[in-house]
Amino acid sequence: MTSSPVDVAVRRVGPGDRDLLLHWANDPATRAASFHPGRIDPETHDRWFAARLASANGGIWIGEVDGWPIGQVRVTRVGIDGRRGEVSISLAAESRGRRLSRPLLLAAMTAASRDLDVTSFVAAVRHGKAPSRALFLAAGFSDESADVRNGVACTILVRIADPLRRSTQAPPARTTSGSE
Ligand SMILES: CC(C)(COP(=O)(O)OP(=O)(O)OC[C@H]1O[C@@H](n2cnc3c(N)ncnc32)[C@H](O)[C@@H]1OP(=O)(O)O)[C@@H](O)C(=O)NCCC(=O)NCCS
Repeated sequence: MTSSPVDVAVRRVGPGDRDLLLHWANDPATRAASFHPGRIDPETHDRWFAARLASANGGIWIGEVDGWPIGQVRVTRVGIDGRRGEVSISLAAESRGRRLSRPLLLAAMTAASRDLDVTSFVAAVRHGKAPSRALFLAAGFSDESADVRNGVACTILVRIADPLRRSTQAPPARTTSGSE
């Protein structure tokens, strides 16, 4: 994996991000990649956004480069024990094509594995969305299964969270009695 020359920082979404998220969500490429491609009206978005802010069922992280917002990653708990996080990502249209998606995704997954205590991540990618698929494979995901969501064929990709979790933890204290 090559590293990006650009540092992407992530922060949890806040009330002031409501309109920015609606703007990004209604970007045509983002709607086309989703499983509900219709345009989102402001009232529907406001209700959804308030519920997401209040929910412990996941989180949204905003990626920034030099303090400038470049995109978002949403993680939603799924599965029986809620320790699998379903990931979706979108970049602002003007931030695409600059290889910012992988550092944003990795930074957000690191934050999510810490804050939500999820042990694995899953993503659903519509067939034919080559950049999305390339992004998730490059970020350590692998194909798990095929699915159909809202009538749309997609691939389910998964990765475990452990390496991300370890990368955020301090190394274990060294002992002098070990045989290493
Ligand atoms: C998907 C998205 C986040 C990718 O970000 P991006 O800035 O367009 O893509 P990047 O420049 O970071 O490139 C991502 C990878 O796809 C590859 N790629 C780009 N176009 C490609 C194509 N047509 N075919 C195959 N791979 C392609 C790139 O080479 C890159 O891989 P690399 O880093 O190993 O070289 C962005 O396009 C987006 O927000 N799209 C709309 C929303 C969306 O589709 N979200 C995903 C739904 S889960």
